Amino acid sequence: MSVDREALLEAALGATAFAYAPYSGFHVGAALGFADGTIVTGANVENASYGLSLCAETVAVASAMKQGRRGGLVAVAVTGGGPGGGSSVPLTPCGRCRQVLSELAQLGGTDPVVWCAGGEEVLEVRLSDLLPHSFGADSFGRDADG
Ligand code: THU
Repeated sequence: MSVDREALLEAALGATAFAYAPYSGFHVGAALGFADGTIVTGANVENASYGLSLCAETVAVASAMKQGRRGGLVAVAVTGGGPGGGSSVPLTPCGRCRQVLSELAQLGGTDPVVWCAGGEEVLEVRLSDLLPHSFGADSFGRDADG
């Protein structure tokens, strides 16, 4: 099943309402689209010890994996912004989130499309373009069978 871009972006936007971002004021929402049609969302969760903050994408992956999902990730949408409005440039996942998304994607052997909202147009990229030559279970001979 293919994932509808607008529906996934809408889900990501809805998730921004649950962001806990009192320090940056930057509310991010992420939505994961699965092959079975399921959408799992996440929002950023900050901490007074700033470095412990969790990005929306990481929260979404943790939520999905806690539901037992071990693959089937076919699309990702990310959106957000500050109090003054949406991001003026496409909101691409940070480096750590690319690796976190990659773990779930690799479990199912998929290369998800990533829709990054912000600015005039939605940037569309593949996870493998955001994270080329990725590190994974194969890299050190492990079999991550979930
Ligand atoms: N943030 C995300 O949630 N996802 C990203 O990919 C980039 C950054 C969050 C982390 C922090 O809470 C806020 O945005 C500002 O960096």
